[in-house]
Amino acid sequence: MTSLETSTQSISASIRSELSTLAKRDASDGIKPKFSDQPKRAEEMGFDVPGFYIDFSKTHLSDDLLAIYQRFASEIEFDSKRNALFSGAKINASEGRSVLHTLLRDEDNQGIEMERPETIVQAQDSKAQFLTQYQAIQAQLETRSTAVTDIIHVGIGGSSLGTQLVFEALTGLGATTKVHFIGNIDAHQLVAVLEQCNVESTLVIGVSKTFTTAETLQNLDSIANWFVQNGVAEPLSNFYGVTASPIKAAEYGIPSENVVSFPQWVGGRYSVWSSVSLSAALVMGIEKFEQFLQGAAQIDRHFYQTDVTSNVCFIAAMLDHYYGNFMDAKSRAIFAYDHRLRSLVDYLQQLETESNGKDRQRDGSPVDQETSPVVWGGVGTDVQHSVFQMLHQGTSLIPAEFILVKTPDHNLFDHHTELLANGLAQTAALLSGQDYQTVGRLHADEDLSDLTKRAKIFSGDRPSTTVLLEQLTPEALGALLAFYEHRTFCCGVLANINSYDQMGVELGKRLAKQLKPRLESGKSEAQKSAEEFDPSTLNLINRVMR
Ligand code: F6P
Repeated sequence: MTSLETSTQSISASIRSELSTLAKRDASDGIKPKFSDQPKRAEEMGFDVPGFYIDFSKTHLSDDLLAIYQRFASEIEFDSKRNALFSGAKINASEGRSVLHTLLRDEDNQGIEMERPETIVQAQDSKAQFLTQYQAIQAQLETRSTAVTDIIHVGIGGSSLGTQLVFEALTGLGATTKVHFIGNIDAHQLVAVLEQCNVESTLVIGVSKTFTTAETLQNLDSIANWFVQNGVAEPLSNFYGVTASPIKAAEYGIPSENVVSFPQWVGGRYSVWSSVSLSAALVMGIEKFEQFLQGAAQIDRHFYQTDVTSNVCFIAAMLDHYYGNFMDAKSRAIFAYDHRLRSLVDYLQQLETESNGKDRQRDGSPVDQETSPVVWGGVGTDVQHSVFQMLHQGTSLIPAEFILVKTPDHNLFDHHTELLANGLAQTAALLSGQDYQTVGRLHADEDLSDLTKRAKIFSGDRPSTTVLLEQLTPEALGALLAFYEHRTFCCGVLANINSYDQMGVELGKRLAKQLKPRLESGKSEAQKSAEEFDPSTLNLINRVMR
């Protein structure tokens, strides 16, 4: 903060002080005693919502905490902010946009009155257009002389992470069409994919909300060249463009009948519900995609209709806020115990950190609280053999989240039972820990030194949340992702920030544009850039040029 800037107060002094007091008590008491104080804690702190069950009992959640956050929510008029989201108010003020991706999963907007009813028509049109074009593409694919075996989905960030997750989670083991996701400008990725494809049976889908993203356009150019080098005179006839800027896609040269558009009020990282998921939908089928939307719409209903004290999206956000601001948690870890969800962490990392990693409040003044934790994680059980050491015995408080799916899509049930046993055991270990006496008892037959016994102590009382899905159906996945979206919204409201712009990524992009010609044009040009770059960057430019 510069010395001239003052923050707007986003949280009242009395709420802040009540939460600090409670956090001190929670830190010294831990979580375990909460189970003896509240005999039915496991049931009372678990919630069944459409799509999944979520267990908060192994966190510091308590009635006292809920009561304070209920008052906090009422002080900041949480209900009216939630209404503003669904009714289409321009809550993304810095870009002057509504945030209406929920309309894509229920074009009737749950019966909620819209500030601008024409957006409902736009949503219906957008969905109808997607369906028509989906069918046209399918028909086109069927009439091709060579069947499509490979789809190259070119897009980055929100134009790819969700689609990749949906594709991996829902297309099952027997999918005959491969979808390759190309995002990075690093051509090692592209070259490896092109080596596996051939021009007769490959379709390209370029996805970009703006259709100006440098990585996406460069990758599309290189793929077009590859088609030409392999004898295809008009490569772009094999290209589809998915975008909110159809004019830009047309300028690029995508044939107009191959452009599938979606509305501007769908944010990039909230666009998995739109035609951005065309490639995954083509492989898994439109019915499953529709079920995915319906699963999300059910969580929308839960989020919109449920009071904060039993609203799972709000409760999860409240814990994020409490841990981040009052218990000094700088990160949150997410572990999917399911290979099909291997891209979930990447998806959530963008969703949460690009939405809430902000240092400005809604009115432009500096924030006066923590906003986004570092979101990280991985897939179980792999993670148990790497980062879990730190999770169990490290010095930082890291709230962890475990996502388990009861029934697998294969029949090697022994594997699955072991997988679930491992996931559940980790949550139990984080809670219980292991004291010196227990170590002694467990190793009574061995002659362990005091040093070794001490190394085997686990403090326990480390918070974790468990999400349990019956099966990884399209509805369940839709519900899970919608839960995370609304949780992100709630975190943004509690921190008083705009979760829907992403100005923080712009400066680096601008400097890369400025820097690239220096790398292309030789050392003397690099020297000229002294006035624009700091000495360290200039030194590195010179070394790259050497
Ligand atoms: O990195 C910033 C960002 O704008 C993301 O928010 C977005 O998902 C990504 O770039 C891709 O943008 P586009 O869809 O316009 O290509």
